[in-house]
Amino acid sequence: MADDEIQPQIVTEATGSKTERIEEVAKIASVCTACDLSKTRTRVVFGEGNPEAPLMLIGEGPGQNEDATGRPFVGRSGVLLDECLRENGITRKHVYLCNVVRCRACVFEGGRLKNRPPTPTESEACSQWLNQTIEIVKPKVILCLGAPSASAIIHKGFKMTKERGQWFESKFAKYAMAAWHPAYILRLEGEAYEAARRALVEDIAAARQKVIEAKKEPEMTLF
Ligand code: URA
Ligand code: SF4
Repeated sequence: MADDEIQPQIVTEATGSKTERIEEVAKIASVCTACDLSKTRTRVVFGEGNPEAPLMLIGEGPGQNEDATGRPFVGRSGVLLDECLRENGITRKHVYLCNVVRCRACVFEGGRLKNRPPTPTESEACSQWLNQTIEIVKPKVILCLGAPSASAIIHKGFKMTKERGQWFESKFAKYAMAAWHPAYILRLEGEAYEAARRALVEDIAAARQKVIEAKKEPEMTLF
């Protein structure tokens, strides 16, 4: 084959900062109709925080307040999460925060809309956005909040009672761990509530420590 027959290779280098790239993807996702949740959502809740952050927190999906505002974790769960982060000296500027699905999943029950976990089909449809988010942010550490997130990031059928608080290597990040979802903690009472809340604070502390350790590791890259 002569040289001029060879198609020039078009290398589409990713350009722009992580923040710019996230904004670009979020804009495309804001009109996504890849699953039926698009029919009932008010807004796509893409994520927020610092796309340059080494720590990513991944929840399950937006609830009513998130759907109304377009921001993740702004309801009661978000208040609890912010408190537990703050007890570790962490604010939303230090992390990137998003969800497995980016539109609210709910059912009409007893005369009102109730949140429900996303179905595997919905999570699968939304994985395109989760994959792109992780690909851009490239977090060193991922903290999964709850089982659907841990099942998507760590391994299918993740068992929170047995496996939370343990480190796993995942294809998405070198270090991944699952912590109790704040909404789960809020359903508990008394000592059970206190213990689960303490565990979330401790798991965030462990993730913070892991980031510090991971930053000291040499980057395994050829360039
Ligand atoms: N619960 C989640 O999993 N994500 C949110 O953004 C809010 C509540
Ligand atoms: Fe698209 Fe995800 Fe919303 Fe489904 S949940 S419509 S895949 S953004």
